[in-house]
Amino acid sequence: MSRSALSALLAVALASKSAFAQPDPADPTPLVDKTYAYPSGIPYQVDYNTAAIRGPQVGYNICNSTTENQESMCQTSMVNHIDDFCLWAPPIPNSTIGDTEQEEVAWCTKPGHGTRLIPAGALQGVQVLKTSAYIQIAGFIDQTQVNMNAQDYGGELDPHGADLRGNPLGGLMYSNAFPSNNGNNNTFQQVIDWTNFMGGNAFCMTICDPASSQSDQDGYCQNIYDRMGCSYNMPNNAQNGTFEVCDSDLKTPVGIYVTNGATMTYSQPASGDVVPPYTPVVPASSNCVTYQSAELYTANPTPTSGAGATTAAGASQTGGTSKPSSGSGSAGAPAPTSNGAMAVGVSSVAGVLGTLFAMAFLS
Ligand SMILES: *[C@@H]1O[C@H](CO)[C@@H](O)[C@H](O)[C@H]1NC(C)=O
Ligand SMILES: *[C@@H]1O[C@H](CO)[C@@H](O)[C@H](O)[C@H]1NC(C)=O
Ligand SMILES: *[C@@H]1O[C@H](CO)[C@@H](O)[C@H](O)[C@H]1NC(C)=O
Ligand SMILES: *[C@@H]1O[C@H](CO)[C@@H](O)[C@H](O)[C@H]1NC(C)=O
Repeated sequence: MSRSALSALLAVALASKSAFAQPDPADPTPLVDKTYAYPSGIPYQVDYNTAAIRGPQVGYNICNSTTENQESMCQTSMVNHIDDFCLWAPPIPNSTIGDTEQEEVAWCTKPGHGTRLIPAGALQGVQVLKTSAYIQIAGFIDQTQVNMNAQDYGGELDPHGADLRGNPLGGLMYSNAFPSNNGNNNTFQQVIDWTNFMGGNAFCMTICDPASSQSDQDGYCQNIYDRMGCSYNMPNNAQNGTFEVCDSDLKTPVGIYVTNGATMTYSQPASGDVVPPYTPVVPASSNCVTYQSAELYTANPTPTSGAGATTAAGASQTGGTSKPSSGSGSAGAPAPTSNGAMAVGVSSVAGVLGTLFAMAFLS
């Protein structure tokens, strides 16, 4: 599809999105408009108004060696490389994403960012796809190790939300990995738009290059298909046990598909089952480099027992027993694909989604 056709479609999606947003009068500035140079420009909290309806944010944005521990409430995330990225997950054990989306904190693969660390062995397979407009990371995780309820099919985090203050509230993200950063690992660009699904012992995240066009960011970091999981939002070939970084073609943005030569847009219904009329396609990739997890994740804490000692039940079960929750989508359980590989979120989506609470989430 041509860029202009895509832009037109995205303009429609964006218009309908903003029509529903209701900025909080106490903090009307959208999170995506709060930009700060890293690290010197970052305030202690970007979302601090106690009069705000959902707020203020539970954590803070200045993160350093003092805040680097497993109780950290750091809400500044870093997404650099397969050995150096953070996911959003709950601060309190055995939580669901739906219940805690506004308070998620950064859990990182590596020390140095003032955050919690993802325990050793929790990441079970990661695929990074680098494109000209965004970077996508998808993989498998023992989600109980990052305080998630074992059965949670999870939801979607992004810097928008119905009040435009983001989920988590005040969550910031930075990266050194975009082509527009010119290979400089010591300077960091703010990731203006991003989306992160967590759940079903899987995760996926897209960070959009701030140097790409607005319509690219609206399309590739789309956040209104929050009940359609990783397979539709971020088609991938992540496999349990494999850690790889590839160059990739651009995906067709979620919701857009071609049938009988015509480009169509599917809209996720506000309620009821979500049954997209198309199958997502994983874009072609090349130059894949594989790693051993032991060489990537070298400074991670030993997993705790208790809530952490658990099973992959949440990953294989398609019934979905997690508590229905507002704002909840699904990362989608990993399921076998035709070649026997496990891909994050492929093929179990309808089964998972059929059980989710039917509620419009105005992202
Ligand atoms: C470290 O982070 C904490 C929490 O944000 C902050 O209060 C403190 O001032 C920071 N310390 C330094 C030296 O920046
Ligand atoms: C920057 O980091 C990447 C990923 O770790 C690494 O491959 C690359 O060599 C680094 N670049 C420089 C100039 O150090
Ligand atoms: C997690 O919470 C669920 C219900 O909320 C409970 O049934 C389960 O026992 C808890 N698991 C742990 C490990 O605490
Ligand atoms: C990934 O593989 C490991 C080791 O075989 C297994 O314990 C785990 O349950 C698998 N994870 C998922 C999400 O299937």
